[in-house]
Amino acid sequence: MRRSAPTRRYGCGCSPKNASRRSRTPPAGPPKGHARASCRRADLKRSAGVRLAQDSTGIHDESKAQRPLAAVADWRFGMDIRRAKEVYESGGNVTDYLRQARGQSRNDAEIIEIAYDLQAGSYSSAALKNADRLESYADQVAAILSPCLRDGDVFLDIGTGECTTLAHLERRLSSSLGRMLACDISWSRLCYGRAFLDHAGCRPVDLFAADLLHLPLQAKSVDIVWSSHALEPNAGNELAAIEEILRVCRSCAVLFEPSYEKNSPDGRARMDRLGYVKDLPGAIAAAGGDLLACIPIREPQNPLNPTHAYVIRPPASDSANTAAWACPVANDRLGEIDGFLYSHESGLAYPVLKGVPILRKSAGVLATVLDANTTIPA
Ligand SMILES: C[S@@+](CC[C@H](N)C(=O)[O-])C[C@H]1O[C@@H](n2cnc3c(N)ncnc32)[C@H](O)[C@@H]1O
Repeated sequence: MRRSAPTRRYGCGCSPKNASRRSRTPPAGPPKGHARASCRRADLKRSAGVRLAQDSTGIHDESKAQRPLAAVADWRFGMDIRRAKEVYESGGNVTDYLRQARGQSRNDAEIIEIAYDLQAGSYSSAALKNADRLESYADQVAAILSPCLRDGDVFLDIGTGECTTLAHLERRLSSSLGRMLACDISWSRLCYGRAFLDHAGCRPVDLFAADLLHLPLQAKSVDIVWSSHALEPNAGNELAAIEEILRVCRSCAVLFEPSYEKNSPDGRARMDRLGYVKDLPGAIAAAGGDLLACIPIREPQNPLNPTHAYVIRPPASDSANTAAWACPVANDRLGEIDGFLYSHESGLAYPVLKGVPILRKSAGVLATVLDANTTIPA
């Protein structure tokens, strides 16, 4: 194993406790990189106006979000997607509707994908309108994450959505960080995410569509895994999610997720109703992780959904792999053939749409002869 970074770094004066205390106290001066951040924020707001007015492919094209859905979506998911869209547009809760339609109490991967796909574009709009709130959140996230980071680290954001939090965080992270990866279950949201990152002038981020319960990466191939309200709708899969994160993670996982245990009775009832995670500390312990700190975030967006940063050290391991795409079924390294990503072990080929690999089990096309010579002999 390369290191035990969290304890070492927190040991040199930057403890999670300190980070927490710091995050509760208003900063005496501008945080590091503040001038650059506020300057970019102003640019972001200015250019957003231009995009709204002129750009037909940009992150704010609301006419696209209103397009009717084809029947194929209903067929694929066995659910009434048009009705789900109506529920969303009339302000109802889509996951509630879909759970009831499926007669189940928990969200599954398809419900989460549909619910978030239907919202695609909404986070980008909200982020441009509420940049100050995101700036304050990103300050707190960066204060907790930064002590865990080392030069050259491979950094993974799971459930990145439209990359709005990531974009605000990125400018606060060291420029000597290594490769940045970000995934979401919804390709549509990543499509907006790409636009948002470009728009904010962020460094390159490798986006990929994936289920965080089946990450298409080999074991111990990422230094830092972080999330912001991504595990949230995965109630019932807390242990599976933490096990998967700790499988790929070498150094530290920092999960900004709501705390059921620290929530009010009203907040808990809401989390129960929406199928949100609970007892993350229990899942972390059961997965063999070491919970180094659980830090409350100031002024959460919704007091009924109080964000806490769970700083986790994975179990010790000597293995280390490179962060190359791996088959979510067989976990072997994927090779590129004719624009697809192919697994020799499973025979599955995964598509790449607008440069974003779709590395979900359900996206794999059985194509066992993809790498064979299929020429008919003369
Ligand atoms: C509340 S949003 C937060 C998005 C982003 N992290 C942010 O801070 O704006 C939750 C995101 O997690 C994603 N998500 C939830 N469960 C997931 C899963 N099992 N696999 C991959 N993504 C998931 C959703 O698609 C959604 O984009």
